[in-house]
Parts: sequence; C-alpha cells; structure tokens
Amino acid sequence: MTIQALKGFKDILPDEVRVWQHVEATARDIFQRFGFTEIRVPILEKTELFARSIGEATDIVEKEMYSFPDRNGDSVTMRPEGTASVLRAFIEHGLQAKLPVQRLYTIGPMFRHERPQKGRLRQFHQMSVEVLGLDHPRLDAELIAMGWLILEELGLTTSLQINSLGCPACRPAYKDGLVAFLAARKEHICEDCQRRSQTNPLRVLDCKSSHCQEQYTAAPAIIDHLCPGCAEHFRKTKESLDLLAVPYAVNPFMVRGLDYYTRTTFELITDALGAQSAVGAGGRYDGLVEQLGGAKNMPGIGFAMGMERLVLLLSQQNAGACPEAATDLFVAALGEEAAVQTFPLVHLLRRKGLQVAMDLEGKSLKSQMKQADRAKARFVLILGEEELAKGEAVLRDMDSKEQQQVELAGSQEALCAMLITAVAQRKQ
Ligand code: HAM
Repeated sequence: MTIQALKGFKDILPDEVRVWQHVEATARDIFQRFGFTEIRVPILEKTELFARSIGEATDIVEKEMYSFPDRNGDSVTMRPEGTASVLRAFIEHGLQAKLPVQRLYTIGPMFRHERPQKGRLRQFHQMSVEVLGLDHPRLDAELIAMGWLILEELGLTTSLQINSLGCPACRPAYKDGLVAFLAARKEHICEDCQRRSQTNPLRVLDCKSSHCQEQYTAAPAIIDHLCPGCAEHFRKTKESLDLLAVPYAVNPFMVRGLDYYTRTTFELITDALGAQSAVGAGGRYDGLVEQLGGAKNMPGIGFAMGMERLVLLLSQQNAGACPEAATDLFVAALGEEAAVQTFPLVHLLRRKGLQVAMDLEGKSLKSQMKQADRAKARFVLILGEEELAKGEAVLRDMDSKEQQQVELAGSQEALCAMLITAVAQRKQ
C-alpha cells in the first residue's frame, strides 16, 4: 500500500508552484512599497497563546486546533493563524522600543481541522500583515487599500465588506440587546445558535441556516450602537476609503470567527469559490497586545489573505497572468567529444545568469529536440561531430525556426557573450 497525504493536506506540484510564486512575489512587492518588513515566527506555539487571543468560545479554539501534548507533557498547537504569534514575538522582543509603529508581514502555513472542501484545507497558507502602535482610521483605510491593490495587481475581482465591532465601552450593551433579541426567538433558531447565544452571541449572526438568517434580519446592528469614539473612527475610515476610491459595502452583520477584533473589520469576498467566499479578512484588535501581557494602549490592525483561494481565483479569472516557465537555451550535444566541450560552456552560461538546459545522457538529436520543446527553450545550440569538424555549431531560434552558424574557434567568453546577446534580443 502506498502512503498518501493526509486529508486536507495538499501537495503544491511544480506546475502550480509558478502561480504560487507569482501571488507571493506580487504581495511581497506591494508589502514593501507600503513599508512592511517580514517577520518569520514558529509554526508551533503554546496552546494558551491561541486560547487567550482567538477566544475560548470560538470554533477555531473549540474544535479546529491541532493541539497535542509535546514530549514534556506541555500542550502545544500548530498555529491556526498568524496574528497571535506575531504579537507574541512583538511583545517578547520589545519591538515597539525599536520603532514606535511596526509594520510586519508574514507568509506561511496555518492549520485548522475543518471539513476540507474547495478552497478550504486543513493546512492552508496565509499572507498576513499587522501594524502595531497606531490607531488612526486612515491606517485602516490604507491597509484595506493595500489588500485591494494586491487583488488588483493580480487581476482579480472581488468585493469589499466592512463593519465596526465597537470596543469594550460599547459592545457589552449591544451584546445584551442581541442576547435579549435572541432569547425572544429561542424557539425559532437552531440549536447551535441557542448555545452560541450564551457563549458567543455575536457569532450567531454568521449562522449558515437560512431559517436563522431570516430571523436575524430584524436583529439589532452593532453600527447603530457604537460609542461616539467608535462611530467617529468608522466614519473616518469610510471617508478615507472614499479618498482612495476603494469601493466598499457596509455589512452591519459581518462578524468574525476570532474574538480579538475591535472597531473596523473587513472581508474581501468573491462568489466564484462556492461556499468559501473570503479571500482575505482582517480588522483592528486594539486590546490584544495588552491581553497577551504586553503594553497597555497598544493598538493593532491587520489582515490575512488565503493563498489557496487566491491561486484558485487566479486560475478562474486571470489564468494567463503568470509568466510561462521557459529556458533560454538548450544545448544539444551529440557524441562524447561534443558533450565534453559543451559541459563547461553550460556551467559558464549558468554562472553568467542564463537559464540553460542540457541532456546528460547522450540521447539522439530527435530526443534532445523534444526535451528542448518541453523545456520551452528559446534557442537550441546544436553541436555534433560534423559541427566540431567544421568548427561551427548551429544556433536555432525555436520560434522563428531560423538557424545561424556560430564560430567555435574563439574563446568560450566570446561564445558566451554572443549567446547572451542573442537571448537578450529575443526577450525584448
Ligand atoms: P481568518 O478570517 O480566519 O483571519 O483567515 C483569513 C483568510 O485565510 C480567510 O479569508 C481565507 O482566505 C483564509 N483561510 C482561512 N481558513 C482557511 C482554510 N481552512 N483553508 C483555506 N483558506 C483559509 C485570520 O486568520 C486573521 N489572523 C487575519 C488577521 C490578521 N486579522 C488581523 N490580522
């Protein structure tokens, strides 16, 4: 019996990697333009870190974490998201002392034991950003616009929904109102919502049951119950989004699956991926640093994009976006003597930056030309006994099929320079 990958864990095969690299390179470039620097944090953390930040009564912590006792018996967890780990590192290393406003990004795998389906995996990858130390609403808009720009540069169309979840000053009163609303409809909502109305009432608004959703159309909306500070922050965030011409819709019932959010929350959504509609999501978490034992009054905001979903969407909406993998030159040597001559030439060309392939097995010309086709070679340099005798190789342009003779008598440096020029001209 062969061993297969775990359910919900996926290999990213060489053909797909090109798309992944394109997505990642686009995001990294944009993160840098916005002043972000990369931070790399461990995959394994103490379980307590996630329980304390994401919230004990969330789906993630209640039933989706890969948690296990390590060999010392300490409970450890494979990170289900990146924010908690980045904040742990921020606090542990006193990063705010180095720079009062930290703009950090991280890219890597996350783990959640969810039911796998299209766009939903148990090991998935996020590109996420966090800004710590600034609570200005223009920052909220700047970050959202950065997410929007990533999608725009990838050629993807999504929509943006925003909401405000208030703060510890205004949310409790709203929560009480919502609990009272739910209690009055107890008989008409599903068991899960009945349970959640006790443990995590805001989450009921996210219930997938259409019957429950019908009830919730009349539910109180948090944006109607914001304190003056939160209301002003939300107003300024929207105003700043308008300044940047980022189109959004306010969804007053958008709640998030993680408990740490305050004020602005947002989701970049698509209807092209079935049930998994969010390609990116995030929001403000002004109390989280303190909650994790760090400085008081240390505001934070961030978001994460799901790379699997971006890659899927890219294959649907902009399949031609990634540059095709190609080889600059395939060197077809025929016979041992030609191979001995071209083997160091290939190495020299690679040292000079060209993408060069060569057959090492002494295959026939026909077979080598097939390999050159497969490698999408721009040029093939053909060198057999006959060419060696004449002191000239044949350089074939694989697009135009034109061939030219190339002198072998000069230095290898001169031959390299000629080949590099030919490739550069073709690329123009
Ligand atoms: P999240 O909404 O849980 O937020 O995840 C962010 C994104 O990760 C989702 O919008 C989705 O694209 C992707 N994602 C989540 N779960 C899966 C899965 N099982 N399979 C594939 N993709 C998935 C967070 O994780 C927050 N840490 C975001 C954040 C950063 N908030 C502030 N800073």
